[in-house]
Amino acid sequence: MKALVLAGGKGTRLRPLTYTRAKQLIPVANKPILFYGLEAIRDAGVEEIGVIVGDTREEVMAALGDGSRFGVRLTYIHQPDPLGLAHAVWTAREFLGDEPFIMFLGDNLIQHGVIRLVEEFNALSVDALILLKAVENPQSFGVAELAADGRILGLEEKPKQPKSNLALVGVYLFSPAIHEMIRTLKPSPRGELEITDAIQALVTTGHPVHSHIHEGWWLDTGKKDDMLEANRVVLDEIQTELLGSLDSESRVVGRVKIGAGSELVRTSVRGPVVIGEGCRLVDTFVGPYTSISSGVQITSAEVEHSIILDDSRIDAPGQRIEDSLIGRNVRVSRAAARPAALRLLLGDDSDVCLT
Ligand code: DAU
Repeated sequence: MKALVLAGGKGTRLRPLTYTRAKQLIPVANKPILFYGLEAIRDAGVEEIGVIVGDTREEVMAALGDGSRFGVRLTYIHQPDPLGLAHAVWTAREFLGDEPFIMFLGDNLIQHGVIRLVEEFNALSVDALILLKAVENPQSFGVAELAADGRILGLEEKPKQPKSNLALVGVYLFSPAIHEMIRTLKPSPRGELEITDAIQALVTTGHPVHSHIHEGWWLDTGKKDDMLEANRVVLDEIQTELLGSLDSESRVVGRVKIGAGSELVRTSVRGPVVIGEGCRLVDTFVGPYTSISSGVQITSAEVEHSIILDDSRIDAPGQRIEDSLIGRNVRVSRAAARPAALRLLLGDDSDVCLT
């Protein structure tokens, strides 16, 4: 079996961060989202992985290398335009050959990995095994309608009136029969070749397609609140590791990871929290569900339920920052002199909420 990981696309919903970074490389608990998927595939014993890349290919290739750091072999496949998930499979046709494969969307995170799913696919001898999860907003996803006996009756991509609340999770297993179905597809109303339509074509033409209801959490990290939710659930599973230094007036409570070379001065941290390497936190409170990447400096602020990326500086006495996603090299400060006005330099598509 091979694997196909999708790391192309535009990531428009996470702008402005995705103007300068591939969305699949934005970290959750200080680890790029994409790494979780590669590790899950490797843990299921699949070592030959094709990675679909688009405009951000240089950054993705620099981050993943040849795959040896994950114990896998990577082949990069360039998809010049993000014309849909089925188009991505079509682009990888030569790499995939006539082998079955697991397809993993690079911005999806799933709990418990994919070992059981791969075993189930191998045991069943079906042409597709899809993963489903009950959600509150099925109209934002591919949606499956099942018969009482679990058979798939139909699939629709982002339907206005969903026939069920079962969303297609971004992990699929396919036999080579999927390629014949993709050959017959026409672009959907959003102009893409949809993998959902290709699976529907398998069902319509009588190919065996099974579904599996996913028991653990599943997150599609498309938007800011999805990222914060992914950060929350992943941080819930971290273990304490304190490699940095704390002065006698600093306190750490709960599960907290602090990287080498980080320094806490008169600072309290209430986990779960992860702090990268070379950070300096002074007179600060870091509350639960916060990830701080390397090289960040925070002075006299309170931060909770947030993600702060590399080398940013927050110097904001008395200010409380919550539910925030702050990019790299960002500066947040409080004016010392009057007039007490906001002075902003915000990139396109920034989002600021003032109290
Ligand atoms: O997250 C699960 C959902 O993923 C499913 O429920 C939907 O049925 C499926 O169509 C997909 O929907 P999205 O609209 O969320 O897909 P998105 O455009 O975000 O692309 C998913 C990943 O694949 C993302 O990492 C970018 C990458 N991609 C996307 C396209 C369209 C590519 O590499 N190439 C592409 O052409």
